[in-house]
Formats: sequence, structure tokens, C-alpha cells
Amino acid sequence: MKKTITKAVFPVAGLGSRFLPATKATAKEMLPVVDKPLIQYAVEEAVAAGITDMVFITGRNKRAIEDHFDKAYELEASLEASGKLKLLSYVQEVVPKHVNCIYIRQAEPLGLGHAVLCAKPVIQDEPFAVILADDLIDGEVPIVKQMVDVFEKHQCSILGVQDVPRANTRQYGIVSTTNIEPNIEKVHGIVEKPKPEDAPSTLAVVGRYILTPRIFHHLETIQPGAGGEIQLTDGIAALMKEEQLLAYRFDGIRYDCGSKLGYLQAQVAFGLKHEELREEFAEYLKTIA
Ligand code: G1P
Repeated sequence: MKKTITKAVFPVAGLGSRFLPATKATAKEMLPVVDKPLIQYAVEEAVAAGITDMVFITGRNKRAIEDHFDKAYELEASLEASGKLKLLSYVQEVVPKHVNCIYIRQAEPLGLGHAVLCAKPVIQDEPFAVILADDLIDGEVPIVKQMVDVFEKHQCSILGVQDVPRANTRQYGIVSTTNIEPNIEKVHGIVEKPKPEDAPSTLAVVGRYILTPRIFHHLETIQPGAGGEIQLTDGIAALMKEEQLLAYRFDGIRYDCGSKLGYLQAQVAFGLKHEELREEFAEYLKTIA
């Protein structure tokens, strides 16, 4: 029987040190792009792909994420009393009613692979998506939806990939592949953060994964890799030896909101698309160009 994807894992336990002091007391995933936090864009992307169970792997200083997706009784009552119904709808529509939010605490920052492994008790024996909220990707069809469509056909693990400048390979998991269909590659190698001169290609994994549950076995057994951490990339490299692994060149623009420059670029792009702001903001940008 064909499997479907109903669960997404959001690893949100990172320290966000590149954005200090903004992230001293709050999560980097709560940084807003215009008027929505990064984590909300990520959850909306999952909802658009038909995913109903959102599993957040949280750490210290992440309570704001739980509060964001919870009901805000006092705020809602006060907006209602003052007749601010549009604002009330923004607050109430943060997650649709049929969506479940589940929180698991990662006690120690042992790496992205370890964070994903923390989701095992909830995911159990199903394929699932992993979404890194600091990769904000704007696509006409939301990217996770594009990948779920590929999964429906191929029923295997899939990595969201895009070409990056060779000088930047040390920021990414890099794959070596053979093209099998338009935008779909068969992966036969993956390495975490290689130096430009060692990188097998310039095709980088960017924050969107669909994984089969067999990944948990490998995350449990691999040794710490780059930076002394349990790397998701190393778990995927082991999985690839047993199961088919595909890379999907998604259709969309990615903003690396883990970097200050990418975050500013996202503000400009989303500001220029924002229904209330776009005209005034475009006028303003002309005055400073
Ligand atoms: C992580 C992964 C890396 C991936 C990247 C995408 O790295 O380890 O393989 O390419 O996300 O953004 P991080 O950005 O957490 O250092």
C-alpha cells in the first residue's frame, strides 16, 4: 500500500548564535520576516502539503514557539472586545484546528541528526518530512508539497537540493547524483560541509527532507561526525546504502535566514509581496537605491 506523509519534524533547538543578541532570550525561529515568525512560514508550508502532525524538537529558550502555536485567551479576548477582528483572525489562524502540535525537548545540543532521532517516539514507523525553518523557501507551489508529490510516486527518501557557488560548499550537505527525470536525481554520495576543493559537486541540501523511518536505525548507530555532532547527513549516507535516495531540485527561491544577509533579503522580498505594504515599500526602496 502506498504511504503518505502526515508528520513533519521541525528541529528548533539550535542556539541561534549568529543572531545574538536578538536570540539571547528567544528562539531564532521566532525572528519575524515582515510580520510572521520563520517557524510559522515553515508550519504553513507543511500544512499546505497535507501534513497534520507538527513535531517540534525544542531546547532551552524555546518556550516562545510553544506559546506561538497555543491559544492566547487574554490576547484574543482583548482583540475581540476592542473590535479588532482582522488582528483576531491573524492570531486565531496561526494553525488550523485540525493540526496537532507536539513538543519534544532535546536536552543536549548533540547535532541535527540527534534532534531528528528525538522524534522517533512520535514518528514510529512512518515516512516523514524534516523542515529547517531558517531556510525560508518561496515557491508558487510550497516546496514540501512539491516533495510530497515526488514521494507519492517514488516512495523513498528525498532531499530538497539546489546548486550553490562552489566557494560555499562548506555550509551544506553536498550530494553526488545522476539525473533520472527532469529535476530528480538519484543520489549516490552525500558529505557534510566539504571544502570547495573536496566537494563532489555543487548540489546542496537545503533544509527540506522526506525520510523513511529506517533513518532512525542509522541515527542510533552512527558515530559523531563533523563538529563532533550526530549529523543527519551521515545518517542519510548510511540509509542510501540500503534504500533508494533521491534529490529533488525544487522550484522556488530560497532565503538563508540563518545568515544576516539572507534574512535581510527575505525581508525585502516578502515586504515587496506583502498585501498592505508592497506599494509604499517599493516606493521607499526607490528613494534609497
Ligand atoms: C544543516 C545540515 C546541512 C544542510 C543545511 C541546510 O546545516 O547539516 O547538511 O545542508 O542544514 O540549511 P546547518 O545549516 O544547520 O549548519
